[in-house]
Amino acid sequence: MKPIPLSLCFLFFAFISTKLPTAFSPNDVEQVLDVNGDSIFPGGRYYIRPAIRGPPGGGVRLGKTGDSDCPVTALQEYSEVKNGIPVRFRIAAEVSTGIIFTGTELDIEFTVKPHCVESPKWIVFVDNEIGKACVGIGGAKDHPGKQTFSGTFNIQKNSAGFGYKLVFCIKGSPTCLDIGRYDNGEGGKRLNLTEHEAFDLVFVPVGVADSAGIRSVV
Ligand SMILES: *[C@@H]1O[C@H](CO)[C@@H](O)[C@H](O)[C@H]1NC(C)=O
Repeated sequence: MKPIPLSLCFLFFAFISTKLPTAFSPNDVEQVLDVNGDSIFPGGRYYIRPAIRGPPGGGVRLGKTGDSDCPVTALQEYSEVKNGIPVRFRIAAEVSTGIIFTGTELDIEFTVKPHCVESPKWIVFVDNEIGKACVGIGGAKDHPGKQTFSGTFNIQKNSAGFGYKLVFCIKGSPTCLDIGRYDNGEGGKRLNLTEHEAFDLVFVPVGVADSAGIRSVV
């Protein structure tokens, strides 16, 4: 496991001071809704799509990046007609009402799992080649030579007021960072940790016609 690059350490510390005051303001907690205006719920399956149709692209899927033989990197489709792979949310806290509010600590997983990876659960890994911390799946051994972070995700209203953004909080640390998008020319945009523009997104429920459960692909 490589040590986290100095530049990123610096970024995380910079974020601690700038992000924290707003990250946990309890006043504007509200139930998270899908595009139909229904509450999203743990175990439901949703495509993560841009809040704005058209040029912002399509849904989020898995892809191979760098020298990886396994699709363990989350990529947002360039094409708006592609929905990507649905995700499922699990509430991380043991004591909970089962309702997903803005700020509720969540695990996120894809509902499709490649054979070459143990778990479809979202994590964050540091890609030194592009100097970004990106969303992927699995565990440390699925990202050889790269620093990985486990932690929890939560959903916040985006700054536009329509739609949401995803936030990642590093386990055992007060640091929380927004999920943005970074185009590295890999057939889709990486989901990278950022203090700049967050990915404005919505949750599109998968039709009941689709089969349930985790399917294996690849
Ligand atoms: C994530 O990518 C965006 C878009 O390229 C960029 O503006 C931002 O600085 C990146 N975040 C980090 C921490 O490098």
